[in-house]
Amino acid sequence: MWKPHQRIKYQTEVARWPAKDVTATSKLFAPINVGSLALEQRTWIPAMVPWRSNEAGEVTQDVIDWYARFAQGKPGAIVVEATGIRDIPSGPLLRISDDRYIEGLKKLVDAVNQASEGQTRLLIQLIDFLNIRRRPDPAKYFDRFLIITPEHRQALNLNDAPEAEVRQALASLSSETLETILSAREWDALQFGARDRVTDIKNPAVADLPQTLPPLFAAAAVRAKTAGFDGVELHYAHAYTMSSFLSATNTRTDGYGGGVKERARLPLEVYEAVRGSVGPDYTVGCRFLSDEIINQGSGIDDACSFAQAFAAAGMDFLSLSRGGKFDDAKQPRVGAAAYPYTGRSGYECMPAYLSDEQGPWGRNVEPVAKIRTSVREAGFTTPIVTAGGIYSFDQAEALLTDEKADIVGFARQALADPDWFEKVRTGHGSEVMLCRYSNYCEGLDQKHKQVTCELWDREKLDDNSVILATDGRRRLVAPPWSRDSR
Ligand SMILES: Cc1cc2nc3c(=O)[nH]c(=O)nc-3n(C[C@H](O)[C@H](O)[C@H](O)COP(=O)(O)O)c2cc1C
Ligand code: SF4
Repeated sequence: MWKPHQRIKYQTEVARWPAKDVTATSKLFAPINVGSLALEQRTWIPAMVPWRSNEAGEVTQDVIDWYARFAQGKPGAIVVEATGIRDIPSGPLLRISDDRYIEGLKKLVDAVNQASEGQTRLLIQLIDFLNIRRRPDPAKYFDRFLIITPEHRQALNLNDAPEAEVRQALASLSSETLETILSAREWDALQFGARDRVTDIKNPAVADLPQTLPPLFAAAAVRAKTAGFDGVELHYAHAYTMSSFLSATNTRTDGYGGGVKERARLPLEVYEAVRGSVGPDYTVGCRFLSDEIINQGSGIDDACSFAQAFAAAGMDFLSLSRGGKFDDAKQPRVGAAAYPYTGRSGYECMPAYLSDEQGPWGRNVEPVAKIRTSVREAGFTTPIVTAGGIYSFDQAEALLTDEKADIVGFARQALADPDWFEKVRTGHGSEVMLCRYSNYCEGLDQKHKQVTCELWDREKLDDNSVILATDGRRRLVAPPWSRDSR
């Protein structure tokens, strides 16, 4: 992963945890309404893909165990990982793309209700993503994948030569020469793996996204409602389709790109389709970016405009992330796919303990505060969810008191210690296992390996009841909180 030049080492520490009577009157542990949904407290576990599903995209027992473990900590809400809305093979990504998934999803809802004793509300994040290929072996790229064009022939002076000869000639060139002969997209496909963009409107499947996506999202949301989820989060963040529509890099000329209004058009039409299908009382919100953190990307002003438009349309909550784009991702090795959390934008999405003078904690707090202010100034009370490097009660409470957000997201901190919420609420904060922001978990995610935390995944492996990862060396869920000290 990209690292800031300064490389200052930070260590998470909490000098003082609150007593039970302090949390009892705190904002963090006070209820809040999100649309028609009542959260018991203003804590929220944002979506995190743990790679617990299978090739069929089903809810496995591992998926159930994973979320039930989070639910034992009784946060206000959990958002289930990015879940695919298209009925196509997507590796072990969870899917909600057909009614056959409803039974499994119902079991997940029941497990969370049971484990949290009804205290935690469960939402699910709905995702669409465009085709992306692995970085090709150059020999195979020139032999099979590259489409030979008149431009290639002309550059090589092989206008009438058989195609095989052109391919061979290209394969024999140095990188420097190739870069001058291949188009920018062909060069990118060779270096990173081919990847569809929302701007590829010559590709009929991409051109038709404004027609195909609203019904796909709507059908997925109806399934979520049928399965018993308390709400859905439309994934408009990071490197995926809807975020790419919002991006300032979206130059589509069909009314769905260019200006801020045109870029927000499909996200709003998707929302309208979802709302029309699930009815006015079901909780629907979205996650989008306070800043893309890429050259020529959308920044905070665009995010304020989007937030106002989403609030005006009637979204029940707005959850803000940051960065996480393909545009600045590191080059993958041959045979691997680009991963959108390896560049600077990826760092801003999941900042790590090696950081700059700003440090890894709360980097999204001020941008989100600005977005919240713009939503309030436009006359909307829509709850705003913030996230990014938040691990202590004081941090969370201060940002709520200062009205910088309405709900606080704890992603990696909840992964490090799913009991954070109960420990802190009951005055046992000193027992919290603090996230180190090492991004060991994120490294596993990058390899599509079952995500675990280095703070607990080697604990009590000799216990026969412990379920191990496929590598046989890590436990899949955090050990239970030993409550002897309560
Ligand atoms: C393993 C892992 C998987 C993630 N998967 C998702 C995801 O599916 N959807 C999403 O919006 N964000 C995802 N994120 C980003 C988190 O939701 C969160 O925004 C980010 O980790 C910053 O918050 P934190 O500092 O509290 O961890 C993921 C993060 C991690 C560590
Ligand atoms: S592995 Fe654990 S300690 Fe490291 S960043 Fe992830 S959650 Fe935090």
